[in-house]
Amino acid sequence: MLNILAISNYRSLRNLIVPPGALNLITGPNGSGKSNVYRALRLLADTANGGVVGSLAREGGISSTLWAGPATQRKEPVALRLGFHGNEFSYAIDLGLPKLPSESVFSLDPEIKSECIWHGAQLRPATLLVERRNGMVRIRRDGGEWEVVESHLQPFESMMERIADPQRAAEVLSLRDQIRSWRFYDHFRTDAESPARQLQIGTYTPVLDTTVGTWRRRCKRFSRSEMGAPWPRPFPMRFRVQR
Ligand SMILES: Nc1ncnc2c1ncn2[C@@H]1O[C@H](COP(=O)(O)OP(=O)(O)O)[C@@H](O)[C@H]1O
Ligand SMILES: [Mg+2]
Repeated sequence: MLNILAISNYRSLRNLIVPPGALNLITGPNGSGKSNVYRALRLLADTANGGVVGSLAREGGISSTLWAGPATQRKEPVALRLGFHGNEFSYAIDLGLPKLPSESVFSLDPEIKSECIWHGAQLRPATLLVERRNGMVRIRRDGGEWEVVESHLQPFESMMERIADPQRAAEVLSLRDQIRSWRFYDHFRTDAESPARQLQIGTYTPVLDTTVGTWRRRCKRFSRSEMGAPWPRPFPMRFRVQR
């Protein structure tokens, strides 16, 4: 469950905090930022799958994705911040350009500057549980003391990739698994060769994957195909493919 979504300095979104409901419909004129909300959510999901820096590069690099508003409104160097409040924990990530100029061909790669996980919705010193600053990650233990669990995270690596582990960092694992369960069904194929139209080995799955390749597996549980009826159409008629 996504209780709060926060986006800062992502394209046209200067500062957005939304409490999504179970079903949300985003409307607005062209160019008002509807897709930007969706893209920001995908970026957040890419963090848990180890791909946020690559995704930003594919979007044209962080310099084109950072909010490009008037310089007078910028009090500090602009950083891209994404965060959410889930069931129990909240998570936020801060990405920016490297501070020092470099000769490397990857000098335009964004860096993960900080990440944190806290309990509940309000970030306060008392609720902070896991904190990453540059390459270092520390975790607050039950007695309240901080333990450094990692000192050499790469700038392109999220702490969710490296330290999610039930013993060392249960909160990180919980958050990572929660994000990994998010599904995005915006680019599934509907052509004749689409995975959604292929017969699949029928194993149980609670959610459709993003290619909708598991659609038939799910349908099979409820279809009349065993009784000789054709497979149900995977999509409503307006998606019908001409063969
Ligand atoms: N880096 C940026 N800084 C500020 N605005 C941006 C940036 N990149 C794109 N935009 C703006 O985002 C808007 C497009 O948003 P989009 O979410 O695609 O709109 P739509 O509501 O049509 O889906 C455009 O107005 C564009 O100028
Ligand atoms: Mg759009």
